[in-house]
Formats: sequence, structure tokens, C-alpha cells
Amino acid sequence: MAAGSYFSITALVILIQLTINLNLCLAAAPIHPSGRNTRFIRTSCRATLYPNLCFTTFSRYTTRIRGSPRLLASTALSVAFNTTRSTTKAFINLSKHRGLKRSEAAALRDCVEQLGDSVDELKDSINAMSPPRRGDNFHRRTSDIQTWVSAALTNDDTCMGGLSRKAMKRDFKTVRRQVVKVAHMASIALAFVNRYAADTH
Ligand SMILES: *[C@@H]1O[C@H](CO)[C@@H](O)[C@H](O)[C@H]1NC(C)=O
Ligand SMILES: *[C@@H]1O[C@H](CO)[C@@H](O)[C@H](O)[C@H]1NC(C)=O
Repeated sequence: MAAGSYFSITALVILIQLTINLNLCLAAAPIHPSGRNTRFIRTSCRATLYPNLCFTTFSRYTTRIRGSPRLLASTALSVAFNTTRSTTKAFINLSKHRGLKRSEAAALRDCVEQLGDSVDELKDSINAMSPPRRGDNFHRRTSDIQTWVSAALTNDDTCMGGLSRKAMKRDFKTVRRQVVKVAHMASIALAFVNRYAADTH
């Protein structure tokens, strides 16, 4: 029984990974990068903790971002939201798999809850990310966004911590790697939001 369920879970995890990547690729058809806008992305990404992941992710969006710190921040929030949401959906599926050990299923269910909170926080952030308007408390709005994205990052870390080797008896490398990606996307979004907030004051 152990060997059979091990392989079917591994296959399911890989399938989930492919589904997530496919969804992200469909959402962002590559656009040929143009010089100045690409340089803006590269320079901005250098100020994040994950410059390579950042550049490969956001160089697809040069025409959408057009050198704007606000559009960079809102695109990063959208990427973080999409990645977190599709990961949450995949984990809901995986947590129902019969071959899981009890501690594995519990860790995945905790992750679904934590990443689900991140999804809500990122959604609120995207909604609050409109341009400054006359009579609008822009400072308050950006500081709310900073709070929400920081909270999302904390939730992602909590999920990651729960997927310890003790809880996950078998090889859940793909699952861990996916959560790391979710957290890195939130971290990049936070860096861009912070920069936008600092520039606009
Ligand atoms: C996120 O997903 C939505 C819906 O699938 C899509 O319209 C949007 O372009 C995606 N965001 C990015 C930045 O790719
Ligand atoms: C989750 O399972 C449902 C129903 O089985 C399926 O339609 C969906 O594509 C799965 N989602 C992911 C991300 O694997």
C-alpha cells in the first residue's frame, strides 16, 4: 500500500505543479521586451531579495508596466495573488488525497487556511492600489497595503513552517517549492509597494 500511494501522490503533486504553471503562462503571454521598460524592471528587481525570479517573472509585463512604479507594484500584487490562489486550490485537492498520512493532511489543511488568508489580504491590496486622488488619504491607503502584504508574507512563512519534515513523512519537495515561490512573490510585491509608497510621499 505504501509504495502505491507514494507514487500516486507524487504524480498528483507533479500534476498540480504543471496545472499551476500552465495557468500562469496562459495568464501572461510573453511580450517582446523593449529597451527602456526592460531596464526599469531589471533595476527595480535588483532591489528585491530575489532579483532573478523577479526579472524572469516581470520582464513579460514590460508593456503593461511601462516604467511606472505604481503599475509595477500592482502587477506584482496581481502575480502574487494569482500564484497564491492557484496554490491554495491545488492544496485543497491534495489535502483530500486518501493516501496521505494524518499529519500530512493536517499540515496541508493548515496551509490552505493560511494561504487562503493571504489570498484575501492580497485581494484587498489590489483593490486599494488605485492612483492617488484629490481628497484621498493616499498615505493611509498605502500603509494599509503594506500591512496586508506583510501579513500575507507571515502567513506564507507559517504554512512553510508547518510543512516540516516531521509532518510530511515523504518527499513533498514540489509542495514546499511551491510555497517558497508563493512567499517570494509576496516578498517582491512588498518591496515594490514599499518603493512606490516612498516615491509618492
Ligand atoms: C491573474 O489572473 C487573472 C485571471 O486569470 C488575469 O486576468 C490576470 O492578468 C493575471 N495577472 C497577471 C499579472 O498575470
Ligand atoms: C482540483 O480538482 C478539481 C476537481 O477534481 C479540478 O477540476 C481542478 O482542476 C483541480 N485543481 C488543481 C489546481 O489541481
